[in-house]
Amino acid sequence: MTIERVFVAGAGLMGHGIAQVHAAAGREVTVYEPDIARAEAGIARITGNLDRAVAKGRLAEEARSGILARITGTADLADAEDADLVVEAVFEDVDVKSALWAQLDGIVQEDAIFASNTSSIAIDRLAAAVSEPRRARFLGMHFFSPVPVMPLVELIRGSATSDDAAEAVRALAGDLGKQVIVSADRPGFIVNRILIPLLGEAMRAYEQGVGTAQDIDTGAKVGLNHPMGPLELSDFIGLDVVLGIMRVLHEGFGEPQFAPPAVLERLVAEGHLGQKTGRGFHAYPR
Ligand code: CAA
Repeated sequence: MTIERVFVAGAGLMGHGIAQVHAAAGREVTVYEPDIARAEAGIARITGNLDRAVAKGRLAEEARSGILARITGTADLADAEDADLVVEAVFEDVDVKSALWAQLDGIVQEDAIFASNTSSIAIDRLAAAVSEPRRARFLGMHFFSPVPVMPLVELIRGSATSDDAAEAVRALAGDLGKQVIVSADRPGFIVNRILIPLLGEAMRAYEQGVGTAQDIDTGAKVGLNHPMGPLELSDFIGLDVVLGIMRVLHEGFGEPQFAPPAVLERLVAEGHLGQKTGRGFHAYPR
């Protein structure tokens, strides 16, 4: 099974990066957002990433043009019709994702693989939104942010996922330069199962006054050699996204290390979602 045409639903932090790496690996990519301005904003972010790479001498001007020529934005789901692979990277909410998958199931050619970039929701739960034959070609393909930089993909098979679909996605991930790990279909999979208690504990330390946000992050960066501190990383991922993942894990396991801290609930309720809104645990002057 060859994957040449890729439809990426969602052009946000994850979606634009997912589109970029597929186009860089020679695939024809369509990026979908219901509002075309958001699809165009995603492509503008890709252009910015590629321009930085050209300026640093890491990418040839011709390669940059080639990658951009392979990416098209759309606000029309019907453009997914002849895709070989659909990657869904929309908001981490089971109803939002399920509604989109149900629509795509009625549009996309029957051999296409459906891959969700969900960071925590069970693949079987999402696969329930599509017809039974399609479930054999439904799986989780979880990227890490920033997608062009982080060389990992978690591959999650649902109970109906076929060997062929899993192998096709594994081969594709290799072409994208990503290392693949396989996770069972459990809440949070492997990486977020490890990461989320760390982020939550840093937030609890912060709300209990153990240290300033700056000192907590410096502790992890300088004392543990983490590239970003846990509060800074939460701001980078998006506090709404982190909260969504925590809720899925807490609902799934019921254990206190996954419970969303009050400070996180409050920041999200106030609309402080991290880097993307200019404020989270830290401020990001624009
Ligand atoms: N998009 C694209 N490229 C980016 C980028 C972005 N947002 N940010 C940085 N880069 C690139 C830079 O261009 C640079 O590329 P070159 O090496 O080719 O020059 C490279 O990344 C390193 O960047 P910098 O030197 O500017 O910055 P840095 O050394 O501080 O590294 C970082 C930046 C790679 C983001 C680093 O801070 C890091 O690894 N942070 C942790 C990221 C992480 O943990 N991600 C996982 C989050 S969890 C997740 O995504 C899954 C989930 O379900 C929540």
